[in-house]
Amino acid sequence: MKRSKITIIGAGNVGSTTAHWVAAAELGDVIILDIPPTGTMPAGKALDLFEASPVFGFDATIIGTTDYADTANSDVVVITAGIARKPGMSRDDLLATNAKIVGSVSEQIAKTSPKAVVIVVSNPLDAMVQRVLQVTGFPREQVIGQAGVLDTARFRAFIAAELGISTEDVSAMLLGGHGDTMVPLLSCAAAGGIPVTQLLSKEKLEKIVQRTRDGGAEIVGLLKTGSAYYAPAAATAQMVEAVVKNKRRLIPCAVLCEKEYNVGGFCVGVPVILGSGGVQKIIEIPLNAEEAANFSKSVDAVKGLVETMEKLIVSQIY
Ligand code: NAI
Ligand code: 2OP
Repeated sequence: MKRSKITIIGAGNVGSTTAHWVAAAELGDVIILDIPPTGTMPAGKALDLFEASPVFGFDATIIGTTDYADTANSDVVVITAGIARKPGMSRDDLLATNAKIVGSVSEQIAKTSPKAVVIVVSNPLDAMVQRVLQVTGFPREQVIGQAGVLDTARFRAFIAAELGISTEDVSAMLLGGHGDTMVPLLSCAAAGGIPVTQLLSKEKLEKIVQRTRDGGAEIVGLLKTGSAYYAPAAATAQMVEAVVKNKRRLIPCAVLCEKEYNVGGFCVGVPVILGSGGVQKIIEIPLNAEEAANFSKSVDAVKGLVETMEKLIVSQIY
């Protein structure tokens, strides 16, 4: 059987950890591309990962490169290229630098892998998804941002820890941008199928929601030198798996919403069915008044970022 070809752009913390999990789960052959000053760093990471395969018993061709020709006709391309947060920085502080990097990466992807499903990870996430769509001209189904899987994983982990139960038994959904305004949905969180609102007090749940919103900053504050990568890479690998195995996962992803949720042409996190070809369907759910107001605030924050990005592009800072 032909293996899927999975390219990961950016061989830093998130990119190389994603490569590790994608290869170990035998999701396909892996190409890791970066453009470091040393030139050979991606080849070093790829060879090191390949040398782990006899120990863990996984089969995958793993190539590290600086040349987009090696990535040609990938089935999935993951974009993790860009700078990461340091203490005191928000995701939004990365906008100007990463819009430029993600724009140049997107030009290359459009030329070399026009059929690829592109999973965007670089921050500020929602604006970067918009940038990839603008530059590649790909249909919206093909360009998907990873944020909601990570944010719901944090939400689920904190609920499970509070209840003292397996994280596997907690399910959750979340809407909005990947920022301080994200909207974890208490109405959709359940433990063993039981709504969490029946298991935990309002005060405890509010603390968990706030900790989820601050989840990225909490890790930055502890690491001091960069941002989270194990959970982000796990979330990204899950999305790759959904696409290459056509799993039709119902998960939150950042996608271009037009009429859906009345967003009107911006990329934000919403529940989708993810499988072969990318987003197969956007799922619209009724929101209560508080959720709708919070979602609207989050969409406004994303719009603000995209407008700033567009001004930077028009003023030809690039
Ligand atoms: P990192 O600094 O460890 O790695 C970034 C890599 O991108 C570096 O190796 C760098 O050489 C490479 N790079 C820069 N410009 C490039 C270009 N033009 N072409 C190819 N490679 C290029 O950073 P890390 O921790 O891996 O984070 C990467 C990005 O992902 C950051 O923007 C970070 O904020 C974001 N992120 C997003 C998350 C999400 O949930 N959406 C979660 C975690 C990180
Ligand atoms: C996170 O949420 C930095 O976006 C990244 O950890």
